[in-house]
Amino acid sequence: MAWRKYYDEHKMTAAEAVSKIENGSHVVLAHCVGEPTALTRAMMENAENYKDIVIHHMVRLGPLDYATPGMEEHFRLEPWFSAGNARAAIAEGRGDFAPVFFHEVPILIRKGRLGCDVALVDVSPPDANGYVSTGVSVDYTHQAVKTAKYVVAQVNSRMPRTYGESFLHVSEFDAFVEEDAELFEVAPPTITDVEKAIGEHCASLVENGSTLQLGIGAIPDAVMLFLKDKKDLGIHSEMIADGTLELFNSGVINNSMKSENKGKMTVTFLMGTRALYDFAHENPAVEVKPVDYVNHPMTVARQYKMVCINSAIQVDLMGQVNAEAIGFKQFSGVGGQVDFVRGSAMAEGGKSVIAMPSVTMKKDGGAISKIVPFLDTGAPVTTSRCDTDYVVTEYGIAEIKGRSLRQRAKNLIAISHPDSRDALKEEFEKRFGEKL
Ligand code: COA
Repeated sequence: MAWRKYYDEHKMTAAEAVSKIENGSHVVLAHCVGEPTALTRAMMENAENYKDIVIHHMVRLGPLDYATPGMEEHFRLEPWFSAGNARAAIAEGRGDFAPVFFHEVPILIRKGRLGCDVALVDVSPPDANGYVSTGVSVDYTHQAVKTAKYVVAQVNSRMPRTYGESFLHVSEFDAFVEEDAELFEVAPPTITDVEKAIGEHCASLVENGSTLQLGIGAIPDAVMLFLKDKKDLGIHSEMIADGTLELFNSGVINNSMKSENKGKMTVTFLMGTRALYDFAHENPAVEVKPVDYVNHPMTVARQYKMVCINSAIQVDLMGQVNAEAIGFKQFSGVGGQVDFVRGSAMAEGGKSVIAMPSVTMKKDGGAISKIVPFLDTGAPVTTSRCDTDYVVTEYGIAEIKGRSLRQRAKNLIAISHPDSRDALKEEFEKRFGEKL
């Protein structure tokens, strides 16, 4: 077996593999649970020998030690999503956030518009034909492997082998580091009564035979609580978490009505607990494919009755959605929100939902309305007012698409928190000269 000889000849320690990364390189780390932890650890141990390494990734679940104070000479962080661990580095200038639609990440890597000299990925051991699987993360990870000049795989028996397009041949790698390591796990959240109410409203918009995109967190899990009596649901989603398993095992999700990839749950990455990763292992019901296919609005648009449910930081009275920043502070990123909002809008029978609690609590116990007259200064528009379809809070459903500015403001005020309504009505009166 020629591949075995190649593989054995390119096996090395993590220290050896990362010592070959040249100064000034753009290093792309596999997304989320796909992070090769032995390689990122070895990179940090070799930090003193690096100069001007630029690190790129979407979500990283481990600590961002390369973005801590004192590391500036060695590393610079340029993520495509600002998850919890990246926020301080970005706010304090040790990192620069790059806004990008998730579906465009591999496209921009291909075009050379996003730097990718080195790719570090976590893979399953090779099969009899010399193929490894990136299991939980195909997203932009595969494109990084195909574009980078130097590609290192951590070979990890804890990585599930998933179907779809998760396989790469050993000949596509330059170095292999064999090290088993548990994958990151994200436990299902606890669901509050507010989230349950939101979930119930969202579920009322889901018809039998719909195909769903749901993110991670309490709201998606709350939606699923109210889908138990639906029939023939499908999944075409950026990701799935453990919450999906119950609906799949009970037969509510059977993917039978999907227009494309019928009979399969199609995702671009997995993030949950070991139960999810074991479920996905060699399971023909799950396919993990590149994000420029899964999230591409044209792909999403081909699913009949596509329903996507995402969340927001704030929504203004025109229906503009900020899902990314608290004022100037980059809190997350666009991720797949706009990919799915636009795709669902083009899908026959498609709908998109922005679901959020009506208020967020301040540290001192006060409440801030998430429905606002104007987005905060510094905050971006993630989903534009022409794209927004439905907004849901615990107080109900506001229809936005097709409605006039006056009507959408009325609809949004009706689902705002009762304590916020007087102030919002005053703004309405100033703007439209009409008393509510
Ligand atoms: N003003 C000030 N602070 C606010 C706020 C507002 N309007 N809205 C939320 N916050 C704060 C909360 O208080 C909370 O603070 P804490 O972390 O100190 O407790 C924090 O922001 C998170 O709020 P929460 O309501 O728990 O958010 P979430 O975890 O449900 O995430 C988004 C909401 C919008 C950040 C998240 O859905 C996101 O990143 N979306 C964009 C990407 C996307 O949609 N991807 C879709 C495919 S998976």
